[in-house]
Amino acid sequence: MINFFLLLALIPAVFCATAEQWRGRSIYQLIVDRYALPSSANTTSCNPGDQTWCGGTWTTIRENLDYIQNAGFTAIWISPVSQNYEGPRTVYGDAYHGYWIADVTKLNDRFGTADDLKALSDELHKRGMYLMVDVVVNDVMATSTQPDLSTYYFTDWSQYHPYCPIDWGNTTSEQDCWLGDTKVPLPDLNTTNPTVVDGYTAWITPLVEQFNIDGLRIDAAKHVDKQFWPVFCGAAGVYCIGEVFDDDPVNVAIYQGPDALNATLNYPVYGALVDAFAIPGTQNMSALTDMIALNKQLFKDPGLLGNFLEDQDVPRWGNLSVDPQSLYNAMIFNFMSDGIPIVYYGQEQGFHGGGDPWNREPLWTSGYANSTSYQLVATLNQLRNFLVNGTSGWLNSTMEVLTTTDKGIGFVKGDIVTVLTNIGSPPQNVSIAVYTPWSVNTVLTNILTCEQWQVGSNGTVEMEYSKGGEPAIFAPNSLLPGSGLCGFSGSVKTTTPGSGSSQGAAASSALIELKRPSTLMSAFVLFVLMFFGLFGTVA
Ligand SMILES: *[C@@H]1O[C@H](CO)[C@@H](O)[C@H](O)[C@H]1NC(C)=O
Ligand SMILES: *[C@@H]1O[C@H](CO)[C@@H](O)[C@H](O)[C@H]1NC(C)=O
Ligand SMILES: *[C@@H]1O[C@H](CO)[C@@H](O)[C@H](O)[C@H]1NC(C)=O
Ligand SMILES: *[C@@H]1O[C@H](CO)[C@@H](O)[C@H](O)[C@H]1NC(C)=O
Ligand SMILES: *[C@@H]1O[C@H](CO)[C@@H](O)[C@H](O)[C@H]1NC(C)=O
Ligand SMILES: *[C@@H]1O[C@H](CO)[C@@H](O)[C@H](O)[C@H]1NC(C)=O
Ligand SMILES: *[C@@H]1O[C@H](CO)[C@@H](O)[C@H](O)[C@H]1NC(C)=O
Ligand SMILES: *[C@@H]1O[C@H](CO)[C@@H](O)[C@H](O)[C@H]1NC(C)=O
Ligand SMILES: *[C@@H]1O[C@H](CO)[C@@H](O)[C@H](O)[C@H]1NC(C)=O
Ligand SMILES: *[C@@H]1O[C@H](CO)[C@@H](O)[C@H](O)[C@H]1NC(C)=O
Ligand SMILES: *[C@@H]1O[C@H](CO)[C@@H](O)[C@H](O)[C@H]1NC(C)=O
Repeated sequence: MINFFLLLALIPAVFCATAEQWRGRSIYQLIVDRYALPSSANTTSCNPGDQTWCGGTWTTIRENLDYIQNAGFTAIWISPVSQNYEGPRTVYGDAYHGYWIADVTKLNDRFGTADDLKALSDELHKRGMYLMVDVVVNDVMATSTQPDLSTYYFTDWSQYHPYCPIDWGNTTSEQDCWLGDTKVPLPDLNTTNPTVVDGYTAWITPLVEQFNIDGLRIDAAKHVDKQFWPVFCGAAGVYCIGEVFDDDPVNVAIYQGPDALNATLNYPVYGALVDAFAIPGTQNMSALTDMIALNKQLFKDPGLLGNFLEDQDVPRWGNLSVDPQSLYNAMIFNFMSDGIPIVYYGQEQGFHGGGDPWNREPLWTSGYANSTSYQLVATLNQLRNFLVNGTSGWLNSTMEVLTTTDKGIGFVKGDIVTVLTNIGSPPQNVSIAVYTPWSVNTVLTNILTCEQWQVGSNGTVEMEYSKGGEPAIFAPNSLLPGSGLCGFSGSVKTTTPGSGSSQGAAASSALIELKRPSTLMSAFVLFVLMFFGLFGTVA
């Protein structure tokens, strides 16, 4: 008897989370080396162009979690934790990013010890947050096409595909040939070889257990045969989201399902957001509405996909699009549509580096400022976290497009209507009328400005852009008690409607502004004025 209870006590607490538990999360992606420095460090020398280590560690992340949690994120995704290449500097610099795997089963001691990683995991769980770890199993890194295999986890050539350069567009070649180039080749594991499958499962199960990892982000998932994933992720026992770097949802959607992964990163929608919102750009709004329809049709569960605007492989949004309103509008799509929102560190600070390595800036140069973008992210997370936990049905509902024009889109998910535009900051004599599911005179709050609105005749809400292309998120006031947003209570749900519910007399106008604009709104307007050099003449 005593032995039995002793045994129970020895079973470690299990935190690992399923796909269903991830659905309501909001993820902050970071590169370990670039998120935070030890407080004693020299902060003047981290040029992304140098492609070398800058000094971030698992411990410095743990010491700086308030910044992430205060923005409302409920999970972090960290760059790979496995031991990387440590040889002479290559033409692409050093392995500061963590994706150049040497022995996958050893921890990267540049970033700390096992105790440090465990302490990070423990601190996250103490805060009610999840830990997602990036894993690379498709390949290892080498400096020739004939490396000495004895230093890797898999030491026999029969466990690798023979070297060949990838013939892009040929699926077999994309899976069997080697990523990288001849200067830095990435030897490709044969993931149909049973010794490779067994080796990887024997590694991932205890890794997830030892560090209480809640989810895995899978690098280069498209370059591995699909059949490998249910076995690997089954052994991990946690949500797996894979990188299938492809704009075409036909090619990506096949990687979601019981015969593949729980989810993929939403590259198709990312591409469509660039098409629809980037300035300068095609500003092709139908690319987005078409993609929404295709995604619904092709993916088994769009609600589990990872929605993003930036990552370590694509240029920062601010590098593709110079107008801050385009960032705000596109970012809001990722939070208010189907899928799990992911923000890449620095996006909340308006970083604007180009492609690799310029998109891997140190975050500390921002001073971790409470910037306009940071505050927007915090508001979006506060709303989404509230909808996830405080209301029924939002999370599992499917978004529906209500209105689309070449300048904007209005859509509903659950009880929330979002209206976005691609016109950017300069005011335009343009409006977007959205026929909502709400009845005439329903009182709404635009949670981005806290302005009160009222649904007009025929259920219409109409945005006009004479102050520039600001986004809007409308919630019925009856929904908001408990949200802590716009003056509504922060915890207890009450049935008291917000102020302004008796303004029916003015219903002949499609929308009625009942409150003065919030400070955030004023900040937007001020920014727009400054942006276009009009500040002097107005002030
Ligand atoms: C900090 O880095 C700068 C630039 O590399 C260097 O000039 C300076 O001496 C360093 N300071 C310390 C205290 O290491
Ligand atoms: C695709 O790539 C594989 C592997 O390199 C090769 O054997 C095959 O011939 C290629 N197919 C086509 C149509 O080129
Ligand atoms: C991968 O390994 C399996 C099993 O060992 C073998 O049958 C197959 O030919 C290998 N594939 C390639 C492309 O080398
Ligand atoms: C997630 O993937 C695991 C492993 O393949 C599987 O057991 C589980 O059912 C999947 N969950 C969902 C919701 O797809
Ligand atoms: C807009 O995107 C759609 C794809 O959804 C495409 O068919 C159309 O040609 C694009 N229009 C322009 C002007 O690029
Ligand atoms: C885009 O990135 C490149 C490289 O970092 C940089 O030179 C360029 O100024 C950036 N463009 C913008 C608009 O930020
Ligand atoms: C950022 O500033 C806003 C507006 O002043 C404030 O409400 C919020 O608490 C601040 N956030 C942090 C983390 O300081
Ligand atoms: C929802 O509530 C649960 C239980 O209180 C908590 O663990 C979780 O973090 C909350 N989720 C969000 C997104 O706030
Ligand atoms: C959402 O749907 C899934 C099944 O697809 C179910 O397991 C889950 O409990 C639902 N969540 C909520 C919040 O209703
Ligand atoms: C805005 O457009 C409408 C309809 O096209 C027109 O009637 C109105 O005069 C325009 N207003 C301004 C200020 O240009
Ligand atoms: C009322 O809304 C519907 C769409 O829901 C639209 O087709 C119709 O034209 C609208 N009627 C008026 C008078 O605006």
